[in-house]
Amino acid sequence: MTDKRPLRSAQWFGTTDKNGFMYRSWMKNQGIPDHEFHGKPIIGICNTWSELTPCNAHFRKIAEHVKKGVLEAGGFPVEFPVFSSGESNLRPTAMLTRNLASMDVEESIRGNPVDAVVLLTGCDKTTPALLMGAASCDVPAIVVTGGPMLNGKHNGRDIGAGTIVWQMHEAYKGGLISLDEFLSAEAGMSRSAGTCNTMGTASTMACMAEALGTSLPHNAAIPAVDARRYVLAHLSGMRIVEMVREDLRLSRVLTRQAFENAIRVNAAIGGSTNAVIHLKAIAGRIGVELELDDWTRIGRGMPTLVDLQPSGRFLMEEFYYAGGLPAVIRRLGEHDLLPHPDALTVNGRSLWENCAQAPIYGTDEVIRTLDNPLRADGGICVLRGNLAPAGAVLKPSAATPALMTHRGRAVVFEDFDDYKARIADPELDVDETCVLVMKNCGPKGYPGMAEVGNMGLPPKVLAKGITDMVRISDARMSGTAYGTVVLHVAPEAAAGGPLAAVRNGDMIELDCNAGRLHLDIDDEELARRLADWQPPHGLRWDGGYRRLYVDHVLQADQGCDFDFLVGCRGADVPRHSH
Ligand code: FES
Repeated sequence: MTDKRPLRSAQWFGTTDKNGFMYRSWMKNQGIPDHEFHGKPIIGICNTWSELTPCNAHFRKIAEHVKKGVLEAGGFPVEFPVFSSGESNLRPTAMLTRNLASMDVEESIRGNPVDAVVLLTGCDKTTPALLMGAASCDVPAIVVTGGPMLNGKHNGRDIGAGTIVWQMHEAYKGGLISLDEFLSAEAGMSRSAGTCNTMGTASTMACMAEALGTSLPHNAAIPAVDARRYVLAHLSGMRIVEMVREDLRLSRVLTRQAFENAIRVNAAIGGSTNAVIHLKAIAGRIGVELELDDWTRIGRGMPTLVDLQPSGRFLMEEFYYAGGLPAVIRRLGEHDLLPHPDALTVNGRSLWENCAQAPIYGTDEVIRTLDNPLRADGGICVLRGNLAPAGAVLKPSAATPALMTHRGRAVVFEDFDDYKARIADPELDVDETCVLVMKNCGPKGYPGMAEVGNMGLPPKVLAKGITDMVRISDARMSGTAYGTVVLHVAPEAAAGGPLAAVRNGDMIELDCNAGRLHLDIDDEELARRLADWQPPHGLRWDGGYRRLYVDHVLQADQGCDFDFLVGCRGADVPRHSH
């Protein structure tokens, strides 16, 4: 199917007046011949390459392969940089700049002569940021992620990026391993280009992009350094040119049905809790209503099939070799567990057409069968109650089953600094039956909502060999982390949510089966405490982007987007400036 409508880019390059002269002339300083400007779809390659985002540091090579595909299909590729929110280096947290990056993407697309975009994403926040920005423009777009790192190696065994840090640091704090032993794993953890190789947030969001239909099949799992990653980049470059001709814009792919498929797939892969926030934000940009309760309705109780760390044993390399995401989707579809098999994907075929014949390799250990899942009750557990009126989440596959119904005494930390100052204090009145509560780490309280929700346990508890306790906060948690950790409590403490009213010694009830999170004090007492509440000192930042962030960020249940960014504003061409 071809479309003869004028190209968007023709409004820059397609005229013989003064403006057309100027737009073409300056571009020609790059050695571009005149015929390139007449009738070829112009494909923006939106690149989050940065040496400060090590997970995306190989993207120049990926971009070159995308360009080859674009050229082969008769398009004109133009690569441009956008803000790269790298998880490992950016302080206080890369989440602080997800929305900034999305604004960069949106305005770069709308203001420039591009007919479609290839989104080069990898590290956690880059995938949602680029999808959010492109969705607000509703142009044809295809996601190419950078792929996961090869398996980490240490002491003769495979180790997972991120997850091993949490595990070994706890062991070191508990006195079970030496500092030398802890540090010796450093070089072996990250030994190739690519993103974290666990089912952390980067892998989860790559799977979400594929499940949503915004990337070609297998995009999520091909290792970063596997030649097939470059083939996929090439094919994506070819395909985006056809998408322009078919006018296959994001709004035809990112439908309500696509998000429901993604929620189901997230359960099957044991995906990160961060997906709850990012899918809500992406949906908001394209005008799809998505609520926290959709995660209960569509995802809760779904078996987790993919046996990857942090919930399970393997890493992304094995996941790809076992068949990758198409194999998981095939397993779901064969049991009528794919809500919308007909959802359209960027290759013009339905999700089910792409996956129905997907090969599944090996012995069903990595991608397990429905009758032998990693966890029978995967998905995301959404919790509500007087402690989280707008909701909170917990990842059952990463939790200790025995702790998912628990009543315990609150040990309260007013913020992350307070936690760090006191958690190792031998005098801290805490044991493994307690519930660790941390306040003021939500979107406004710790601007960006840092991944500190998986508070490390007190050393005196670790020393007993205990590895998990119930923890509750308004923070997020790294997708590589694990534990019985209640996250995203909304409204957050810094916005005056009930979490702010919890005091040492209060009893807290967690009941994952009932979806309940309850502070065991009477309503009058809770109201009294909240009436006395004062915003934490220093909440309003003096200026700059951070001030904008605190003033406009929405709560976790609303996806932490800015209130003024929600919605699709299209890609109407702005007027000339000359
Ligand atoms: Fe970039 Fe994990 S730190 S993907």
